Amino acid sequence: MKTIVSGIQPSGTLHLGNYLGFLRQAVELQDNSGCKRFYFIVDFHSLTGRYNPKEKAKEIYELAVDLLAGGIDPKKSTLFIQSHIEEHANLAWIFNTITSMGQLERMVEYKEKVAQGITPNAGLFDYPVLMAADILLYKGELVPVGEDQLQHIELARDTARAFNRRFGKTFPEPKAILTKAPRVMSLNNARQKMSKSLPQGCLFLTDSPKVMREKIMRAETDSHAEIGCDPKRRAAISNLVMIYAELSGMTTSEVVKMFKGVGYAEFKKELAELVIKTFKPFQERRAKVFKNKAQVMKVLEEGARNARPIARATMEEVRKKVGLI
Ligand code: TYM
Repeated sequence: MKTIVSGIQPSGTLHLGNYLGFLRQAVELQDNSGCKRFYFIVDFHSLTGRYNPKEKAKEIYELAVDLLAGGIDPKKSTLFIQSHIEEHANLAWIFNTITSMGQLERMVEYKEKVAQGITPNAGLFDYPVLMAADILLYKGELVPVGEDQLQHIELARDTARAFNRRFGKTFPEPKAILTKAPRVMSLNNARQKMSKSLPQGCLFLTDSPKVMREKIMRAETDSHAEIGCDPKRRAAISNLVMIYAELSGMTTSEVVKMFKGVGYAEFKKELAELVIKTFKPFQERRAKVFKNKAQVMKVLEEGARNARPIARATMEEVRKKVGLI
């Protein structure tokens, strides 16, 4: 039985990139009864960026609501909060001792944040090691993520290999699984990935229809007269075509064909309506789940109760192998 593991940071509501790169796939993977699934809210990771402590609890709760409303089913997946299982941090410490500074210095996401002018804390630098612990604590083999996480998964593989070499076979080497939309770009800057840190180009699943329409109508295109899909040369319009394709179940060439001879404004209008229609049921479910705090908290507690014995067993095995008493 394969083990699927993935995490997501609580730092604002879900956006279209999270949905197409991660959540939709995490939900679809629930149909495979031959797999075990662990999905968690990585609250510890989210403390490495700037945040308001007064908002954090709300962000964690809202993300749990989003995941449940988005289709994570607690009967099929173990859903919990990372910091509720203390072994995540404990295993990360052991992994710190077999990870070189050089490996972490090569991490592109870290370098990008530093380039943006963020003064990095040690946690931000060490972020991928905690992520390796998240995955390997459950002996995860498959990790549904967006493309931006590939280098981190590679580090988790290196960590598993290094640990196994030094202390004996303990961990599998996890593999990332990507969707057909592994990198959704910002709507107003197609050279950057869609992210909460660029809110104008970011389509939040909770945006009102009015805001969704505005963001899409303002989205960057190009000076060609025709819809097309050529991500290298026409990144902005290709991103919109890819979003339309993913949400309609069509291929990008089918979308290009369907909108042949149609202007950008008309295409954007159609895209906006498709996005609004796609996320209406999500928004309705979300409003219902949000009100039921007792139930949401119960799901998270049960998830932690199910994950804990597995995490403890791995940590016990690790403690013995590295020589702790
Ligand atoms: P996070 O919280 O930034 O994003 C959650 C998931 O959404 C994907 N994603 C995207 N996919 C496509 N296009 C985009 N524009 C886009 N933006 C985000 C991310 O790739 C991710 O899959 N480090 C992770 C969280 C993490 C984790 C883990 C993941 C911590 N421990 C263990 C897997 C396994 C992160 O910050 O994701």
